[in-house]
Amino acid sequence: MSDFQNIPQAYSIASLLHQNTYLVGGELKQWTGATAEVFSTISSTEDYKPTLLGTVPQLGEKEAMEALNSATLAYNKGQGLWPTMKVVDRIACMERFVEQMKTKREEVVRLLMWEIGKNLPDSEKEFDRTVDYIYDTIEAYKQIDRDSAKFEKNSGVYAHIRRGPLGVVLCLGPYNYPLNETFTLLIPALIMGNTVIFKPAKLGVLLISPLMEAFQSSFPRGVVNIVYGRGRVLATPIMQSGKIDVLALIGNSKSANALQAEHPKGNRLRMVLGLEAKNPAIVLPDADLDLAVEECITGTLSFNGQRCTALKVLYVHESIVEEFNRRFAQKVDQLKFGNPWEPGAKLTPLPEKEKPGYIQELIDDALNKGAKVLNEKGGQTTDNFIFPAVIYPVTKDMRVYKEEQFGPVIPVVSFADIDEPLDDMAESNYGQQVSLFGKDINTLSPLIDTLVNLVCRVNLNSSCQRGPDVYPFTGRKDSAYGTLSVHDALRSFSIRTFVASKDNDYNNAILNELLKRKTSNFISTDYIL
Ligand code: G3H
Repeated sequence: MSDFQNIPQAYSIASLLHQNTYLVGGELKQWTGATAEVFSTISSTEDYKPTLLGTVPQLGEKEAMEALNSATLAYNKGQGLWPTMKVVDRIACMERFVEQMKTKREEVVRLLMWEIGKNLPDSEKEFDRTVDYIYDTIEAYKQIDRDSAKFEKNSGVYAHIRRGPLGVVLCLGPYNYPLNETFTLLIPALIMGNTVIFKPAKLGVLLISPLMEAFQSSFPRGVVNIVYGRGRVLATPIMQSGKIDVLALIGNSKSANALQAEHPKGNRLRMVLGLEAKNPAIVLPDADLDLAVEECITGTLSFNGQRCTALKVLYVHESIVEEFNRRFAQKVDQLKFGNPWEPGAKLTPLPEKEKPGYIQELIDDALNKGAKVLNEKGGQTTDNFIFPAVIYPVTKDMRVYKEEQFGPVIPVVSFADIDEPLDDMAESNYGQQVSLFGKDINTLSPLIDTLVNLVCRVNLNSSCQRGPDVYPFTGRKDSAYGTLSVHDALRSFSIRTFVASKDNDYNNAILNELLKRKTSNFISTDYIL
């Protein structure tokens, strides 16, 4: 199904990328030890064969500790250059970084396509969205800083309140957005004055290589540390040290729970987590079916369903389910599969080689329990792909109902009474978002009022998504811990801290002197425009 001969030169792999350094203590340190090969599931030859893209270091516990010490030293109990730096100077470092980052767009986009199979428009969007996120973060931080450029006075006490850093952050991102989602943690953590240890995701790791120099040259030594290797080997001892103040992770709750449990002082560890979800769509009898079908296609199958925000189960009212299924299954079969750079490729190779087998297991289990595959191409398998299967009727005993499939299979459940999907959502371990399709406000109103208490975003007549990034991205129950929007992320990685002084001549003279001489970076009423 893939067209290996037509790999455009701009996107072909001209040479292997050997990442042979890691970033610690402000230095790109040479690594001569063990390495791991990085493969793409996309073939470059006529007979299917995964493509070798390059190698990355397999660092050990010693290097993990080296990175931890470097970050701890840069924070230096809050006395480090970075956590005490003027806001305007931290912003200047971030601007330097993003300017350099922008020059690497082509290389990063190419690696995104090869490493995780994301199509060209979405890979470009991931890069551009991340650059925008950085600029928006800078603006949001300036606003926070402007808002705090003042003294308050209550009950005879002056207070100069700002947001300060939390300490050392361990940052781990997911493979489906190895650039964007990792940076939505990394960038706010850094700009607020924390120091960071960052381990790239299990897939989508080489795409960080083009940015290594920018990280190294834009920030003071030890502020950003980048390590490569297995999470278990690196992250476990880092957590066990008790020196991590924030665990920032987007990915799997198993990893998050395991890492959290390694920290010896649970109550000292702050967490910023984006975890699993099983977002449902609810299609009401009066829904505009064409619109619902179109949005459910985007919702279930953008990036082959490998999104935490993907629609992972469709509840369709029994009165319209047959027609919905007919139109939906037809549209699914019309989607084009191809390599990421092929024009119009909506479905692309799956980056996890075991994923087609797993999806097949879900299909087989559903078929054994009485469901059918509605679309002709559903379940057709090639070396690196399984065509999305629309499965109906799905019942609660099926694995595809219970598990977060994170891939191309779409369970459809029919309902007679709206309480059925509502009860299921209340019982579910997840609570991120829902898509609600319908028109009559008398039906929608009570539903909206309930749904907002079951999830954190109700998408009216549209698929679920994270963006625009200025809106809160979070979830209830096991789906998230903390909130990430451009603004909220800055709050999540900081804490309010302030200087208080009684209103008397003695203190006021000191404060005036501090403000006049600008000797403190914290006490300042300067306005950043
Ligand atoms: O994997 C989860 C992502 O946060 C989804 O972001 O809705 O923009 O694809 P998205």
